[in-house]
Amino acid sequence: MIIIKNIVIKIGGSLLFSEDLEINIQQIIKFCDIIKANQYYNKVIIVCGGGKIARKYISAIRYVHSNETSNDIMGIKISRINARLLMEVIGESAFPIVPKQFEELAQALLFDKIIIMGGLQPGQSTTSVALEVAEFINADQVVILTNVTGIYNKDPNKFDDAKLIKNLTLDELQNLIINNSNEKQAAAGEYRIFDAVSLQIMKRSKIKVYVVSGTNLDDFMKILDGNSDFNGTLISN
Ligand code: UTP
Repeated sequence: MIIIKNIVIKIGGSLLFSEDLEINIQQIIKFCDIIKANQYYNKVIIVCGGGKIARKYISAIRYVHSNETSNDIMGIKISRINARLLMEVIGESAFPIVPKQFEELAQALLFDKIIIMGGLQPGQSTTSVALEVAEFINADQVVILTNVTGIYNKDPNKFDDAKLIKNLTLDELQNLIINNSNEKQAAAGEYRIFDAVSLQIMKRSKIKVYVVSGTNLDDFMKILDGNSDFNGTLISN
């Protein structure tokens, strides 16, 4: 069997840590085991978010300055430490360096290893990184693992009547982002599931994007298997 599919998976920082900042190591091991068992994809790239720990650091340095670029850099550094954590768990199947820019990623792609990354440059989220990387490697799909089941019409952590949206076009996603954005939307640590940069990249690359739960990895496994009967959101044109 010739495998030519490529996939990029973003694991949100909210999945890596508990509310009290413990590392969710059992869940991380489960996720990494699924990735290591993969037989369907040629290139697999994982992008780690910064999570609560990144936001803690960012809010601490906000006491001493309001330089958003420096705050973003702090978030990027933490996301790379998170990437390093997953690299350790994946072990020998992982490329042993976290690429910090596309030239380093190009080098890593020369090897038959799972590549794990964090952030790249200020002004965006790790979701944007996942989409940029997907465009770069011509990925068939991007899967975003988050702490809710998919994309809702409003924040499911705040509203009981929030409804899961199973299929979303890019125009609908754009309206959702505009309607739910506030003045903090573009601050370090505050780029929500999709920021403006990620929307732009999705528009030009036309890549299929799945948003599913990373807490219960069943739907994630269905997507890897190509099973369309998953609970979550598919964004496409
Ligand atoms: P994210 O906000 O993407 O991680 O990155 P997260 O918190 O895990 O994401 P969600 O909420 O689960 O989806 C952490 C911070 O790192 C900076 C930003 O400040 C971002 O909020 N960052 C990350 C960048 O500036 N550039 C990048 O390329 C990536």
